[in-house]
Amino acid sequence: MSQEIDVALVHVTKKFGDLIAVNDVSFEIPKGSFFSILGPSGSGKTTLLRMIAGFEKPTSGDIYIGGQRVNDVPPNKRPCNMVFQRLALFPMMNVLDNVTFGLRRRGGISKAEMERRAKDALARVGLEGLEKRKIHQLSGGQQQRVALARSLVLEPTVLLLDEPLGSLDLKLRQSMKLELKHLQARTGTTFVYITHDQTIALAMSDTVAVINHGRIEQIAPPEELYRQPATHFVASFVGENNKLTNGKVVAFRQGGGVDVEIGGIRMAGRAGENLAVGDRVDLFIRPEMITLRPGRHDDGIVGKVSEINFDGSHSLVIVDLLESDRPLSLNVKVQHTENAPDVKVGEVVTLSWRWDAANAFHPVAQPRTEAEGLP
Ligand SMILES: Nc1ncnc2c1ncn2[C@@H]1O[C@H](COP(=O)(O)OP(=O)(O)O)[C@@H](O)[C@H]1O
Ligand SMILES: [Mg+2]
Repeated sequence: MSQEIDVALVHVTKKFGDLIAVNDVSFEIPKGSFFSILGPSGSGKTTLLRMIAGFEKPTSGDIYIGGQRVNDVPPNKRPCNMVFQRLALFPMMNVLDNVTFGLRRRGGISKAEMERRAKDALARVGLEGLEKRKIHQLSGGQQQRVALARSLVLEPTVLLLDEPLGSLDLKLRQSMKLELKHLQARTGTTFVYITHDQTIALAMSDTVAVINHGRIEQIAPPEELYRQPATHFVASFVGENNKLTNGKVVAFRQGGGVDVEIGGIRMAGRAGENLAVGDRVDLFIRPEMITLRPGRHDDGIVGKVSEINFDGSHSLVIVDLLESDRPLSLNVKVQHTENAPDVKVGEVVTLSWRWDAANAFHPVAQPRTEAEGLP
């Protein structure tokens, strides 16, 4: 079964002087899918998107859209459209004129047809009836939708979105992210969505590419990214995670598991990468994957509750391990279900997890600080 590929990057690198902003990136985006590029600020996301759009030329490597190599095709001749983080709407124009802007520039269709298409695009983003409003009379979320409609009206096969929800407040971002996902599914347009916000990337995407220092660390569906991070960086960047450092691999289990000794305690985990007995590792454990039982049990790690933070649907319980040879603690997310364990600060509890709920990686070399570099 072969999927039609809409966008492909083959060994794409972009340098600005000595700085390598995008470093040997290759991936394929299937037609009609929601593809996110997730990474911290400065990791090369915008540069990557601008190269797909044609505003920036790769230093080396090739970019294909719809099977055609587009390295030398100018932006306005590419079948894609970009929605910027800063909206760049025309504040004094009304909604309709903003949305028809691109069509007018392109020309070739009647005014009536432009308006029909613009109204259609506005309906798709839930803004019917607001055609005559001025931009400054709209809320932030409505302005965001105008920006989307302005791109959709051009019927791009690929829509490139650079942190379009970044300027919205949390509540609005939550609802817009679902709307965007529905919109993408309805229109069948390929979305390439850039964000530093992992909750957005996980919630909306078919596939997420995690980028760090211009390099792709992992490309996977959200669930896989979350459960089976491929690198130390992905484990620390995506989702909340407990990180226990200074571990040592002491044994292997069947099926890719390892036993790790940390602070004198044996713990189970998944080998996130190639590991050997004796290797130093960090172990990542998701707070919600830890089972907490009141009392002391033989088949787990014993600790004492030091803090309970109520957070509505769950509580975050901080547990200090009692049997480690150095201070260690774990955050445990306890859902408030009917049979949730009822624990209090100061109580002794036992923690356990399935081995594949934790991930072990070699520690990454920390950049030396200036102070460390001095004799
Ligand atoms: N036109 C440019 N000239 C020089 N350096 C740039 C330029 N654009 C981006 N950079 C640098 O490239 C790196 C990646 O930037 P960018 O792609 O904007 O990252 P992100 O969008 O992930 O925050 C940064 O270090 C940035 O300073
Ligand atoms: Mg950016």
